[in-house]
Amino acid sequence: MYVAPSLLSANFLNLEQEITAISEAGADLLHIDVMDGHFVPNLTFGPCVIKDLKNISKLPLDVHLMVNEPSKIARLFLPLKPKFLSFHIEGEAHPIRLCEFLRKEGINAGIVLNPHTPISSLVHLLEFVDLVLLMSVNPGFSGQSFLPLVIDKVKELRQLIDKKNAKVFIEVDGGINGLNASSLNEAGADILVAGSYIFGSKDYKSAISSLKFEL
Ligand code: DX5
Ligand code: ZN
Repeated sequence: MYVAPSLLSANFLNLEQEITAISEAGADLLHIDVMDGHFVPNLTFGPCVIKDLKNISKLPLDVHLMVNEPSKIARLFLPLKPKFLSFHIEGEAHPIRLCEFLRKEGINAGIVLNPHTPISSLVHLLEFVDLVLLMSVNPGFSGQSFLPLVIDKVKELRQLIDKKNAKVFIEVDGGINGLNASSLNEAGADILVAGSYIFGSKDYKSAISSLKFEL
């Protein structure tokens, strides 16, 4: 299991220390939530801020775009060379085109599904994506409660990936903690995003380890 702490819950007055701390505590990726105030009712950071974060971070970037029409701004993130650049299927009319564009630029393409969006919407997309991110909260804010319905969605997606023999990571994001992580692991998730659970804990290392079952 890989763990991607979500920077949204970090102390913004000490971002450099926070990133160093999660890095040393065993984080695998740095999850960055980009919000546009339209697709979700919140605003966060854009490429200028992420560029500076990248300069001080050894962790690969896992960028989660929560924006309408992500194809209009995707190119702004290319110089950051994120490990994954993911966008919501609900906000993009031509997801295959955007995935092909990202892959051509050497970036792993990710598609994100809101909690209500069915796994069946991915049937014709899996061959174009490297990662599927399943939301386990309605996107926009950290600190919300986990929606258990995602567990069955992870199982269904795992079956679909296996059936198609596709090489696609399954990531889950929202309300993840030491209690629900094992169900997600058993269901077949590969990457867990956690914001408030990690940054709200006194000991980042044990919080991250508990999501990786390394206690
Ligand atoms: C929500 C974001 C999440 C969020 C996770 O829209 O995509 O990444 O920061 O925070 P927690 O783990 O606190 O739900
Ligand atoms: Zn996120």
